[in-house]
Amino acid sequence: MSVSHPYILVLYYSRSGATRTMAEQVVAGIESVAGIEARLRTVPPVSTTCEAIEPEIPAEGAVYATIDELRNCAGLAIGSPTRFGNMAAPLKYYLDCTSELWINGALVDKPATAFTSTASLHGGQEATLLTMLVPLLHQGMVYAGIPYSESGLLETTSGGTPYGNSHVAGGSSDRSVDDTERTLARAQGKRIARLALALRSLHEEK
Ligand SMILES: Cc1cc2nc3c(=O)[nH]c(=O)nc-3n(C[C@H](O)[C@H](O)[C@H](O)COP(=O)(O)O)c2cc1C
Repeated sequence: MSVSHPYILVLYYSRSGATRTMAEQVVAGIESVAGIEARLRTVPPVSTTCEAIEPEIPAEGAVYATIDELRNCAGLAIGSPTRFGNMAAPLKYYLDCTSELWINGALVDKPATAFTSTASLHGGQEATLLTMLVPLLHQGMVYAGIPYSESGLLETTSGGTPYGNSHVAGGSSDRSVDDTERTLARAQGKRIARLALALRSLHEEK
C-alpha cells in the first residue's frame, strides 16, 4: 500500500493526562526525523451504559483516531495507562474494531512500539507493554522496543523499559514526566520514525 505522506500514528488513551504527555514527547522524537510526520490521536472512552455515538472529530479536545488512520500509517506508537497490568479498555476496544485490517494484512511489516504510565513503580509497566504487543503481532506488525544503547534505560530510577517507554505518575497522578522518561520517549519516537522509513518499501511492494 502506498503512503504518499508517511506518518506515524501516535495512538493513545489518557484519563488524567500522563499518557498524553508521553505521547507528545514521542511526537517530538518522530518530528526530529526528516521525511515523516506524526499524527497524534486518541480514542473515545467506553462506558457500561449506552451512549450516543460521538462525532469522529470532536468539536474540541483531542482528535479520535479513525480506522483508516491506522490502515494508512507507516508505523504505530500506541500508549495506554496501565489498568491492572493491561491496556485500558478504550484502546482495546479500538483494536477490537480492526478485524478488517487483519484480514487484509494492512499492517503487515509496519513497525510498532508501545508506552505506558502507571501510578506505582512496580505497578505492571512491563506486563502492560508486553500485553499491548500481542495484538500488534497478530496484525503482522514488527515490534520495536528501546535498545540499551539509550543510556537512560540503565540509569533510570523511574520509568523506561526495553519493552517500550513508561512513566511513573504517582498515586495522585501528580508526578511529572522526568528528564529520563522524556529522553526515552523522544528516542522511542525517533526510532519508530526511522524504522518506518526503512521498512516502507516492504509494504509498498504489496
Ligand atoms: C481501573 C484502573 C486500574 C489501574 N491499574 C493500575 C495498575 O495495575 N498499576 C498501577 O501502577 N497503576 C494503575 N492504575 C493507575 C494508572 O495507571 C495511572 O494513574 C496512570 O498514570 C494514568 O494515566 P493517564 O494520566 O494517562 O490517565 C490504574 C488506574 C485505574 C483507573
